[in-house]
Amino acid sequence: IFQNIIYEDTVTSTQQVAYKLLGEGAPHGTLIVANEQTSGRGRLGREWYSPANTGIWMSLIMRPNIEMQQTPQLTLVAAVALARAIKEATNYDVQIKWPNDLIFNGKKIAGILTEMQSDPDRVKSVIIGIGINVNQQTFPESIANIASSLSLETRETFHRVAIIEHFLREFQWLYHTYLEKGFSFIKPLWEARAISIGEEILAKTANGELKGVAEGISDEGVLLLKDSEGNSHRIYSADIHLLE
Ligand code: BTN
Repeated sequence: IFQNIIYEDTVTSTQQVAYKLLGEGAPHGTLIVANEQTSGRGRLGREWYSPANTGIWMSLIMRPNIEMQQTPQLTLVAAVALARAIKEATNYDVQIKWPNDLIFNGKKIAGILTEMQSDPDRVKSVIIGIGINVNQQTFPESIANIASSLSLETRETFHRVAIIEHFLREFQWLYHTYLEKGFSFIKPLWEARAISIGEEILAKTANGELKGVAEGISDEGVLLLKDSEGNSHRIYSADIHLLE
């Protein structure tokens, strides 16, 4: 994969470009990388701050042969690939907060937005959007206490292309290993970097809030949470807050 890499200067959102290319028949493995996004999107309809020259804003078009329930696993594969790529390119360890936030010094330095197009029960395509805060020196006040960049945390600057290259290599082999050996190969790699496992967390879901201990992820990539009464819950989508 990744025969087809498209670099753009300014776009609205690489997700939007990816949708357009998908409609034009872009092949599996097409990657769109932009220097700046004017309306970068985050999960749950949020904005994603994407200034020029500082971060990595990219979307990967995939046409995977997987079941619909497997798409969360694909996001977790990408999160592991990203964490490993950052380690290789910068020598710093970052952690993963379920499902797909990358955390450094307690702050979010990267996020993943996975969007799937399907027939009733078959995955037709998946667009994996990845935003990495690399060299920003400032953040808007509204997110400055939760977001940061690799540079702000380390007082170094990093080459964006090197991080992209490491990510592509890592993602390629992790994805193929995932297809060959299944998610059970990825799960321990993910869990080894996870911050919330074994901790008391608050999960804010669309249906309300749940408090409990994060026990791990299931073989499908679902978060498993045990509440104070000992009941187990499966969390498919939520915002996770660590409780001290
Ligand atoms: C999150 O909310 O954590 C996910 C953020 C995903 C941001 C990336 S940047 C490249 C791609 N294009 C977008 O508009 N969003 C994703």
